[in-house]
Amino acid sequence: MSVILSPSILNADFLNLQQNIELLNKSQADWVHLDIMDGVFVPNITFGQPVVAAIKKVSKKPLDIHLMVVDPDKLIDSFIEAGADLITVHYESCKHLNRTINYIKSKGIKAGVAINPHTPVAVLEEIIRDVDIVLNMTVNPGFGGQKFINNSVEKIKRLKELIIKSNSKALIQIDGGVDLSNIKMLSGIGVDIFVVGSAIFNTGDIITTINKLKG
Ligand code: DX5
Ligand code: ZN
Repeated sequence: MSVILSPSILNADFLNLQQNIELLNKSQADWVHLDIMDGVFVPNITFGQPVVAAIKKVSKKPLDIHLMVVDPDKLIDSFIEAGADLITVHYESCKHLNRTINYIKSKGIKAGVAINPHTPVAVLEEIIRDVDIVLNMTVNPGFGGQKFINNSVEKIKRLKELIIKSNSKALIQIDGGVDLSNIKMLSGIGVDIFVVGSAIFNTGDIITTINKLKG
């Protein structure tokens, strides 16, 4: 099983963030997933550009930025400056998604679109050929440590069908409730990239858990 693993630091030890990032450097993790929450689009607040820029100085892995904010257009330039290698914006928060996705790509980094659990796959029909990644939320965004929403399995299959039917090269990323008990099954139905937070950072041994998740 060759999956792309993007650990989310939402449940990391923020007092020892540098140590946590150095552990990720030594591990088989592929990317580092950074959850940016504004307290409006989601009922929680995390961190912003200065923290991302500090992580960039230490991280040897690409930074995967997940913007859970109401008006992502305002923030794209500053997160690129802070070191983003991929920026994912929510379908639900973009008025002109085509413009936003193409703007991100014009800056030379990857662009992703995220959809919440209640948002149907069909809304992506006209954007699926333009995005590098579709991030299908498998929990309602806002918090780590939530339970995987089981309806997501059928939704991921519909997303895979849309990608194939559209001749799109988009990769499927999922975020929320992924752990050792379900990653193999989800990879089997076509998920390419896994965001994993609490199942990595709430264990005693981050590196061993990452190696097991990589399979
Ligand atoms: C949720 C965030 C996730 C979160 C995943 O809104 O987007 O990235 O950290 O955490 P787990 O793996 O604990 O569900
Ligand atoms: Zn996320």
